Amino acid sequence: MTIPINGFSKLTKEEKISWLADNYFSDIETGIATIKSYWNTDSKLQQLHDEFIENTITNFYLPLGIAPNFLINNRLYSIPMAIEESSVVAAASNAAKFWLSRGGFHAEVISTTKIGQVHFIFKGDNDKLKAFFKVTKSKLIQEASELTRNMEKRGGGILDISLRDKTADMEGYYQLHCSFETLDAMGANFINSCLEQFATTLKKEALSYANFSESEQRIEVIMSILSNYVPECLVKVGVECPVESLFSDPKQSEAFAERFVTAVNIAAIEPYRAVTHNKGIMNGIDAVVVATGNDFRAVEAGVHAYAARNGNYASLSHASLENGVFKFWMELPLALGTVGGLTKLHPLVKLNLDMLGNPTAKDLMMIVATAGLAQNFAALRSLTTTGIQEGHMKMHLGNILSELKATSQERDLVEVHFKNNTISHSAVVDFVNELRKN
Ligand code: MEV
Repeated sequence: MTIPINGFSKLTKEEKISWLADNYFSDIETGIATIKSYWNTDSKLQQLHDEFIENTITNFYLPLGIAPNFLINNRLYSIPMAIEESSVVAAASNAAKFWLSRGGFHAEVISTTKIGQVHFIFKGDNDKLKAFFKVTKSKLIQEASELTRNMEKRGGGILDISLRDKTADMEGYYQLHCSFETLDAMGANFINSCLEQFATTLKKEALSYANFSESEQRIEVIMSILSNYVPECLVKVGVECPVESLFSDPKQSEAFAERFVTAVNIAAIEPYRAVTHNKGIMNGIDAVVVATGNDFRAVEAGVHAYAARNGNYASLSHASLENGVFKFWMELPLALGTVGGLTKLHPLVKLNLDMLGNPTAKDLMMIVATAGLAQNFAALRSLTTTGIQEGHMKMHLGNILSELKATSQERDLVEVHFKNNTISHSAVVDFVNELRKN
């Protein structure tokens, strides 16, 4: 039986691996060899990656693919996508090409405000707290000036602080609800540092506020943290064209547009479908968010909360067919950064941002949202026409063949055979086994 370890983080990388191998690997030699085969031969680059997180033992690769031909606001982009799922990059590229000749994607940033909160407990007179906040608000801002000076010089900073009374939901619960403009930074560190300073000032000022009773003076701060729900950091992206421009056959165009709009409307009212619909959007969003060194967990959490903002989880995208014009668009919250974090540190992130023309955070919001909408368009186009499996299984075929370590000759024979036969995992395995027997 494995016994718990103390001081794992203090072990060297080799020691960590050897402890792991001894305790958990079924094949020690192969396990260690696999780990080491992913080490970078450039020791400086390896060290850089080792230091991104703690207890690093090796690198975990994701493929980086490129979806070219994205026309966004009349500018042509090749979009880097880091993702493990086959079909996603191909789907994005197809959608980009489709809309390239139909005016491209139109994107705009609606707002860029981010939110953070100091959550605290005050068991006392509500009116006295309000009066205290009124006289203390400027002090909160003033005592954070060291932290905000640089951001302010660039045009950002604290936008507002308000006192929110949440006592109807929980006894004594109040918030400092704070809004920020963090420009090209995602801003997590900036916001959290400001919030912690607000909390310090809040507690200190309360202690000397003469109108408070002794117990009221002891405000209990529970936590100070930014919110990943950013409904005021919004971007909108859309495509549109006359319905007859969709395909060369007018009947096909009309039927496609109608089925497409119905599919989107189903996702607007049916949560089981909406989750999968939005997952398809996130295929595009996350891949670009990861490739540009942004926090995909934060984006995921915020986007799904936004999708449920009206009380029902619903589709993020919308479509219409009116007066002969097909329109497809979405609006979603994206808190992204193009400075700070990994943006300068990770060589591939740096390169990807360079490839995108070193975008501002606003530009990146539009690019990322476009990748999401393109992905959604491609998925709905397949789903409402051929079905998703045709394209998916073709792409998946490559993975199955890699799993079977197929030779190039076997690959050629498989390709010919499955041109006219249905692809499934077992059918491919059987076919390759048959080839090998012969
Ligand atoms: C698969 O990763 C994504 C889809 O399921 C999205 C959708 O159903 O819209 C194809």
